Amino acid sequence: MNIVIVKDYEEMSARAAEHVAEFIRGRSPVTIGLPTGNTPTGMYRRLVEEHRAGKLDFSGVTTFNLDEYRGLAPDHPASFARYIKTNFLDHINIPPGRAHWPSGTGDEAEACREYEAALAAAGGLDLVILGIGVNGHIAFNEPGTSFASRTHVVPLTEETRRIAADGKNFARPEDVPEAGITMGVATIMSAKRVLLLASGPSKARALAAAVAGPVTEDVPASVLQRHDDVTIIADEAAAAGLPA
Ligand code: PGA
Repeated sequence: MNIVIVKDYEEMSARAAEHVAEFIRGRSPVTIGLPTGNTPTGMYRRLVEEHRAGKLDFSGVTTFNLDEYRGLAPDHPASFARYIKTNFLDHINIPPGRAHWPSGTGDEAEACREYEAALAAAGGLDLVILGIGVNGHIAFNEPGTSFASRTHVVPLTEETRRIAADGKNFARPEDVPEAGITMGVATIMSAKRVLLLASGPSKARALAAAVAGPVTEDVPASVLQRHDDVTIIADEAAAAGLPA
């Protein structure tokens, strides 16, 4: 694993944007898995700025969101589809039809099958960008998820729902959907390259367990120890538990 420790959130975002921009510039077509949440917003802002400055072309890019809440349509203000449009896709030149997200509505099994089929049709992920949950989850793969999982529907843990109720999209934990649809651990591991971002003290324990603890389904991110092209960009607070 290539672990880059930087000072703070701003620096993490800048380094992440550089990493992704460089990856995109070197390849076309290219398929990328995209996270949502608080961690990557600074990275998306910088990628949009690069594009606006005429320095980054997304015409060869295909994207797949990592996950979605079950029960939310793409235009729901709290959906991850809406997040990725507002924070990123609406501001870049990605061609129509090249951005994908798992369906939060309709038949569950069909939504999962369709997403895996779309990923396969796009030739699989060249790069997947990840955050990490305080419980070590990657995408919505909560502790205990099989390493063999592909896109599937998962009940969200009480902790994940409590953290999501931050007053921005959901006022109370009970307002947060009870389930999500997510790329599986095996789907994520099939990406050629992984970039994981972590910021803040709340992530320190999970990051240390993922990087230096046993590889176990109890800590989904620990599976990344088995991937041969992983870069982690963490700020000092998130990296505080890593062995020196
Ligand atoms: P966050 O979420 O970026 O909002 O902290 C990360 C995650 O739970 O995977």
